[in-house]
Amino acid sequence: MGKPLGLLKPFSYQLHFREIRTVLRTGAWSLFLKSVGIGSKIDEGVTIRYHPAKLSIGKYTHLDTHSQFELYERLRIGDYVHICPNVYIQSGDKVFIDDYACVSNGTRIYSKSNTYDGSEGLVSLSSNAPVKNQRFKSGKVHIKRNAFIGVNSVIMPGVVIGENAIVGACSLITKDVPANTIVGGVPAKVIKKLPTKKRKKR
Ligand SMILES: CC(C)(COP(=O)(O)OP(=O)(O)OC[C@H]1O[C@@H](n2cnc3c(N)ncnc32)[C@H](O)[C@@H]1OP(=O)(O)O)[C@@H](O)C(=O)NCCC(=O)NCCS
Repeated sequence: MGKPLGLLKPFSYQLHFREIRTVLRTGAWSLFLKSVGIGSKIDEGVTIRYHPAKLSIGKYTHLDTHSQFELYERLRIGDYVHICPNVYIQSGDKVFIDDYACVSNGTRIYSKSNTYDGSEGLVSLSSNAPVKNQRFKSGKVHIKRNAFIGVNSVIMPGVVIGENAIVGACSLITKDVPANTIVGGVPAKVIKKLPTKKRKKR
């Protein structure tokens, strides 16, 4: 009797097979998305729900395993971006993620969220409640070029994360993060400023 097939497969064969499946999957998704640039990958278990045509992906970007996208408004992801495993992005309002940005594992981004208004009568934060009983806060989320979002962070509607900014692990972002700063905590505060080199004018 022959050996089970799995034992005969060299590791590289399995790796190539995974790559081929990723290429096929990305090709299939590209029929439904607004655009997908060259070299970009949509990995295993990624879900893109409601309005996939709102999503544009630049080149050499990776939507990693089991990331989830709930799309209502435009989600624009630039070039060389890494959306790590298990990230959740909801685009109740626009979400822009610029080139070279990285969103680490488990981070959740909301551009629309249930809220309260202090009025009398029933105001519910359940999204299953009748719409007349719900209140919303929404605003474009913009993660600028080369910004980094640490693991398990939560980004709330209407914030801008500045260029090169670093958001520490497990942070809650409720306000804009200035460019070239490190922030962290719940809610996030500035921890450090990053050195910036000024270019000499020629
Ligand atoms: C934010 C971060 C970049 C800071 O690193 P660092 O410059 O080496 O900072 P330090 O460890 O010197 O800490 C500086 C201060 O910030 C605090 N701090 C560090 N990380 C923090 C965080 N995530 N949230 C809140 N405060 C934080 C420290 O407690 C310290 O406070 P203190 O001065 O009162 O003692 C790092 O802690 C971090 O969170 N990195 C993200 C890692 C990650 O998500 N990786 C994903 C896989 S790639």
